[in-house]
This record gives sequence, structure tokens and C-alpha cells, in this order.
Amino acid sequence: MSDELILAIETSCDETAASVIKNGVEIVSNVVSSQIESHKRFGGVVPEVASRHHVEQMTLVLEEALSQAGLEPSDLTAVAVTEGPGLVGALLIGVNAAKAFAFAHGLPLVPVHHIAGHIYANRLLTEMKFPLLTLIVSGGHTELVYMKEHGSYEVIGETRDDAAGEAYDKVARTLNMPYPGGPHIDRLAQEGEPVIDLPRSWLEPGSYDFSFSGLKSAVINTVHNATQRGETIKPEDLAASFQASVVEVLVEKTFRAAGEYNVKQVLLAGGVAANKGLRAGLEQRFSGSRFDLIIPPLSLCTDNAAMIGAAASIEYQKGKRATMALNGVPGLDL
Ligand code: KG4
Ligand code: ZN
Repeated sequence: MSDELILAIETSCDETAASVIKNGVEIVSNVVSSQIESHKRFGGVVPEVASRHHVEQMTLVLEEALSQAGLEPSDLTAVAVTEGPGLVGALLIGVNAAKAFAFAHGLPLVPVHHIAGHIYANRLLTEMKFPLLTLIVSGGHTELVYMKEHGSYEVIGETRDDAAGEAYDKVARTLNMPYPGGPHIDRLAQEGEPVIDLPRSWLEPGSYDFSFSGLKSAVINTVHNATQRGETIKPEDLAASFQASVVEVLVEKTFRAAGEYNVKQVLLAGGVAANKGLRAGLEQRFSGSRFDLIIPPLSLCTDNAAMIGAAASIEYQKGKRATMALNGVPGLDL
């Protein structure tokens, strides 16, 4: 049987990405064009700016993904694209590029959920063992997703307000750090001690949901109160205390859910997976446990199209296809 070669496209936020994935597990090419520099001066992703960048980069990135793979469109099995969730204008650029490419070359079109992509990034590293649990933490998402088999998703917990990465970015802004602030807070946290008392948002007993806006406000209030009293707070201690609160809640809820759902594997996904405190916290909590903890390298945690191709392979095998009426859906459910 010939190899399955899927060309995947991802434009849901601020990365324009295309990739070719072989048989759902092997990266043949993986091209990501980041826009972070353009959004920095605004302190966050500006949707209009993101769409423009996608328009400028899309064709180049697509051609690069095919040329790095040494493939012609006629070698491909299907085209996959992120349908949602994400910024609508940004999604539309990828969706339209995928539709045009599929139509021009007579290829099937496979729509993919962005979060399924983040989860399936792990399949490019290792065999997925079911049932499994994934903690997805990014600038737009904080979710615990249970899967009993390929392509079956149950969101057992999610944030009720800010995503974890969003909380990092907002706290960083309070401390006058550039966007995206997560990596800066993480670095600062390594130099400080978690000596400042900040809340842990456990919510109702047994809940796997998250909430970070109270913690974010507590950090902002701590800074304001100290300024008013003429006291100084060591920014590194504040960063370490904030990180300790975020990590403790993420790690504990993930560990508890792994036990209750009796999973075999626990996967980490999303940009906040780069966080040193979170990686160390998870490794410590899960060490010696019966759960197989998988922490992917950073290049697969942040937005990319390889993960979309990996998730698309499962959908393709299940027979999922989109028509030329496919649209970007900003609030798409998993
Ligand atoms: O997955 P991602 O690249 O984009 C989406 O949001 O989809 O995640 C970006 C987020 C940003 O909020 C960024 O501040 C955060 O991930 N981030 C981190 C770290 N590296 C990136 N947050 C905490 N610690 C880090 N080391
Ligand atoms: Zn993402």
C-alpha cells in the first residue's frame, strides 16, 4: 500500500504553518512562520495584523513545505486544515488556501480541530496509549481532555475565565515585561522564592475546571498595595509565587483526573508546556506513578501544522471530509 501523505495548514492565531505528515506519525516537512515580532509592540496578538501576515505568508509557507518534502501536489493523499477554534480572520486564510489547493489538485479536504492537533502532536513522538488524558495549556486554552480511543474527545475540565498563558501574559504586563510574557515570568521565577501568599483556585470539590483571573487580580493588587505603602516587592519573588500557584493547581488537577479516569498516559500540549516550573512539577508529581507522562519538545508544543497533519490522519481514516463550503469556526467545539 502506498504511503498516506497529508499536507496540513494551520493559521488559527499568529503562526502561518504548513507541514507534510506521512502515515500520521512521521514529519516529512514542517514550516512555521511566526508573527510574534509584529505583535510585540501592541502587547498582544492584533487580529487584523495576524490576518494580513497570513495572507502574505501563506503561499510561501505552503510552497516551502512541499519543496522541503520534495513532493508534487499529485503525490499527496489529502489536504488538512484547522477549522477552529481561533481568530476568524486568521482561520479563513488557511481554510481558503486549503480549499483552493484541494480543488485545484482534486484532493480530499479534511477539517481539523486545533485542540485535537495539540493533542496529536504527541503522536509524532510516541505511540498514544488509551485511555489517555491531555493537559492543554496555551495562550487561548486551558483544558483537560480525556480520550478513550483515537478521535474521541471528552473535555473534563476547562478554564472559566483566562487561559493559563493569558494569565502569564497579563501578569507580565503588570511587571512591565514584553509580550509574550510567559517565558519572561518563567525565567524570573527561577531566580526568586515563592514567599508571597497568593490564592489557589481549586473551585468546587471534584471540579477539573480552572480559573486564573482571581490569581491575576491578586498579583496586580499586591503590586499596587506595595507601591502605595512605599514598599518594594522583589519581582522575582512575585514571579515565583505566581508560578507556584499556577503550577500547583495545574499539576494537582491533572494528577487527580489521571487517577479518577484511570488513564494509561498523560500528555502535555500547548505553548505553556514550555514552562520550566510546570514541566518540573509534572515530572515530580508523576514520577514513580503508574501513569506514563509524555512531555513533548517545545517545537511541537507551540502552534504548528505538523500536529494538524497528525490529527488529520485519524480523521481521514475515519472518513471525515469537508466540502468547498468549509468555513473557519472561531468557537468550534471539540
Ligand atoms: O500555544 P501557543 O504558542 O499559542 C496559543 O496560544 O495557541 O502559546 C502561547 C502562550 C503565550 O501566552 C505565552 O506567554 C505562553 O504560551 N508561554 C509560556 C512560556 N512559553 C510560552 N508561559 C509560561 N512559561 C513559559 N515558559
Ligand atoms: Zn494553539
